[in-house]
Amino acid sequence: LTARHSVPALRARKGGEPIVCLTAYTAPVARLLDPHVDVLLVGDSLGMVVYGLDSTLPVTLDMMIAHGAAVVRASERACVVVDLPFGSYQESKETAFRASARVMAETGAQAVKLEGGMEMAETVAFLTARGIPVMGHVGLTPQSVNTLGGYKAVGRDAEAAERIAADARAIAEAGAFTLVIEGTMEQLARRITEEVAIPTIGIGGSPACDGQVLVTDDMLGLFGAFQPKFVKRYANLGETVGEAAAAYAAEVRTRAFPGPEHCFGMKKAAV
Ligand code: KIV
Ligand code: NA
Repeated sequence: LTARHSVPALRARKGGEPIVCLTAYTAPVARLLDPHVDVLLVGDSLGMVVYGLDSTLPVTLDMMIAHGAAVVRASERACVVVDLPFGSYQESKETAFRASARVMAETGAQAVKLEGGMEMAETVAFLTARGIPVMGHVGLTPQSVNTLGGYKAVGRDAEAAERIAADARAIAEAGAFTLVIEGTMEQLARRITEEVAIPTIGIGGSPACDGQVLVTDDMLGLFGAFQPKFVKRYANLGETVGEAAAAYAAEVRTRAFPGPEHCFGMKKAAV
């Protein structure tokens, strides 16, 4: 067994020390984040962040498995959770099991995450009963961007808030071990966090949640396509990369790089 944060240990953090989660899609980033986080989420946001797609819908199971395996290989402490991509789990609980079993067997991740509420409860129970821990995801669910009509905060009227609260209860009662709450009001996130027995993890979900998650590239300032209100930038690596590329380009053009210290000489003749 590994020294990773386990699913039961994370589940037991309800109301305790906040759960720290960031996304990771690649080995080098997983290696850098692993000492600092409880959960590394291989999010299907990689479709937009890494592949330049304009939604998460085209992301495939094979893509998630390739990136999930890289993140597992490059980490040792974090609990690794892999998103089930659009189309791999909604059709039936059996389809969801088959996709999840591939993720678990081919990546070595500890759990899968899926989006949805009441309509996914039976699937969450089916997976959990068969050895596959599930992280839920309610509120703004990006795989439903076409029915939602865009990436905007949800649950802003009483009826929508009730529906999201019911979704959260259904997923928690079905056996999910944690629940992401994305893009909704503090009042609703607080209520859900009080109502469900499992830790809630917010992204645009307010400090009322039991933990937080951000897309790493957003918080590092590496992904500039758009910046949701809930993102805080902890670094401006995009600027740093641009400056480094400009310095390299200038040195190549002036032949300042490579210097003598970067050049191979002849082997010294043996005496
Ligand atoms: O895909 C993703 O990165 C996510 C998190 C932002 C919760 O689902
Ligand atoms: Na996702």
